[in-house]
Amino acid sequence: MKPFLKWAGGKYRLVELIKSTLPKGNRLIEPFVGSGAVFLNTDYSANLLADSNPDLINLFQILQKEGNGFINYCQRLFVAENNTESVFYELRGEFNATNDLRRKASLFVYLNRHCFNGLCRYNSKGEFNVPFGRYTKPTLPEKEMFYFHEISKHAVFEVADYLTTMEKAKYGDVVYCDPPYVPLSATSSFTNYTKGGFSLDDQNALADTAKKLQKGGITVVISNHDTAFTNEVYHPAKIITFNVQRFISSDTKNRNAVSELLAVFA
Ligand SMILES: C[S@@+](CC[C@H](N)C(=O)[O-])C[C@H]1O[C@@H](n2cnc3c(N)ncnc32)[C@H](O)[C@@H]1O
Repeated sequence: MKPFLKWAGGKYRLVELIKSTLPKGNRLIEPFVGSGAVFLNTDYSANLLADSNPDLINLFQILQKEGNGFINYCQRLFVAENNTESVFYELRGEFNATNDLRRKASLFVYLNRHCFNGLCRYNSKGEFNVPFGRYTKPTLPEKEMFYFHEISKHAVFEVADYLTTMEKAKYGDVVYCDPPYVPLSATSSFTNYTKGGFSLDDQNALADTAKKLQKGGITVVISNHDTAFTNEVYHPAKIITFNVQRFISSDTKNRNAVSELLAVFA
């Protein structure tokens, strides 16, 4: 099943390959859950799903608890009158100002379907700032939301940094990590590079923690770009490389194959 959110770096198209690296276990742990593509397409009896984005986790917790009640509540935002630039900016402003978590969660779904490319970006004040997307008729992904609600009975959602989540892994758990990727080119001031707050120190700490868990008998799988840096920091994990078709930069006509990897610490 497809995730109900559009999410940068979403793994829906790679789920079968990722699943082939994940052993059976008592619980799946995802420290970077995003839209949840992997969790939604596996069947662990327990799942610990975390992300540092509080808006995302708030939405998942409300959908988990309420199901159809919340889906119907979101439906009210998906009307033609709300698909104009001026109403979009009004609702985006409301999203940034409200303290009502249920309203905020529904507006997050609205923004995901009405903003440019379904992106999720915040300015330095923490305000969602993606512009209007100009879609003809955005629709609420009801079926996908209901599926998420059903399957999330076996899940715990937490707002957490990846290291806090990884510390919770116990023998018998399986950990799948999908961090923000390292840059492809070594020219982009490599040592200081930070994307979405995820620095090279973070990439190193993630690899070190995976090795530590592996020593305790816990399998950890990490997705990333296939670069000299990732091959070095993940050594001696088993590395599976493959190509992914991607739109490069803002030029949508320019489709290139990018090499990615799965590092399996088992
Ligand atoms: C590539 S996306 C994951 C995509 C997900 N596998 C999917 O299929 O949708 C990376 C996620 O990591 C989260 N993230 C970024 N920095 C983080 C951190 N320090 N700790 C936990 N999560 C973080 C982002 O909010 C984002 O949702």
